[in-house]
Amino acid sequence: METFKIAVIPGDGIGPEVIDEGIKVLNKAAELDGSFSFDYTYFPWGCEFYNEHGKMMDDDGMETLKQFDAIYLGAVGYPGVPDHISLRELLIRIRKEFDQYVNLRPIKLLKGAPQTLKKDHTIDMLVVRENSEGEYSGSGERLFQGKPEEVVLQTGVFSRKGTERIIRYAFEEAKKTGKSVTSISKGNALNYSMVFWDEVFEEVSRDYPEVDTYSYLVDAASMFFVLDPGRFEVVVTSNLFGDIVTDIGAGIAGGLGLAAGANINPTREYPSMFEPVHGSAPDIAGKKIANPLAAIWSASQMLDFFGQEQWGARVLTAMEDVLQDGSTLTPDMNGNASTDQVGQAVTDALDKKIK
Ligand code: NAD
Ligand code: IPM
Ligand code: MN
Repeated sequence: METFKIAVIPGDGIGPEVIDEGIKVLNKAAELDGSFSFDYTYFPWGCEFYNEHGKMMDDDGMETLKQFDAIYLGAVGYPGVPDHISLRELLIRIRKEFDQYVNLRPIKLLKGAPQTLKKDHTIDMLVVRENSEGEYSGSGERLFQGKPEEVVLQTGVFSRKGTERIIRYAFEEAKKTGKSVTSISKGNALNYSMVFWDEVFEEVSRDYPEVDTYSYLVDAASMFFVLDPGRFEVVVTSNLFGDIVTDIGAGIAGGLGLAAGANINPTREYPSMFEPVHGSAPDIAGKKIANPLAAIWSASQMLDFFGQEQWGARVLTAMEDVLQDGSTLTPDMNGNASTDQVGQAVTDALDKKIK
């Protein structure tokens, strides 16, 4: 039997609530299959840990995480600890130090998902977000602090290696699936970073003459996400733009409760990390009404990553069964079920599919 070693970081707010449900579904898939299993180790890292220990993770935390096949994370960040500390010292640190340079965020309107757009559209795209540098490089400077001439610099870092590899990843994905690639950038205003991005996109596209390509400015692309999302298939974009457009994507495909993501280290030198797009949702934390479907979808991405694509697909179908049935959904989807009832419903739907 193959055993996948998973580091679980439930994190803050609704993180632990939704992660429990993802694990229920993973265990059900393993049980039904019988040829693989999961071995979980929990890490209590997050804002409570910070309040107690003055740090977001153990000193040897990164070393410890290296021993795992994957990381399953809920959410990080909670009022009381400054976001730039909690996020940069845990989430962004793992993405960067483990070279998880690909952030895969599917934006797909599942069958039965609440439709937020007025018209019917095909919504089925994959956003390939650069996840290791760009606007999130963390470098900058604060000069003349507190003085009238104070100036703050936040530096976007776009290396040739970093830009080329993410764009190439998107083209490979498109080539495999026969889809188009759309680059989202902003060369009209960002005269260094995005002019460079556009050049690299153009260069890499020459290696893929069979793939249709499009290039949009991020402002116009944001409008088309809402008015005509069907025109996007594989989308490649920078770290910050990818962050923003994937929340727009969540908005058109059922909400943040249904938006999944995978932080992939394609070389597999380090573990990849699976986490919903949403945050810790302090406004609903502890009420047991968080929608676990995003975390469950991220778990399905983990199954794909482990080569268990048939189970990844079955989990998505089980989610669609629950969405179409409509009787067991959380309040964000106009239902009155609790987080664990939705997790149980998906688990039962998966069970029913097989038996
Ligand atoms: P958020 O995603 O936590 O919440 C935004 C809104 O969406 C809230 O109204 C929330 O109730 C709702 N929502 C989010 N997930 C939901 C779910 N599963 N079910 C039902 N409703 C859901 O974003 P925020 O409020 O801007 O940020 C809160 C904290 O989370 C901040 O500290 C932020 O930095 C952090 N954050 C972390 C991550 C991450 O760990 N990956 C992602 C985004 C934000
Ligand atoms: C996300 C989040 C993070 C990001 C934050 C919490 C740093 O918004 O995963 O989308 O911007 O990448
Ligand atoms: Mn985000």
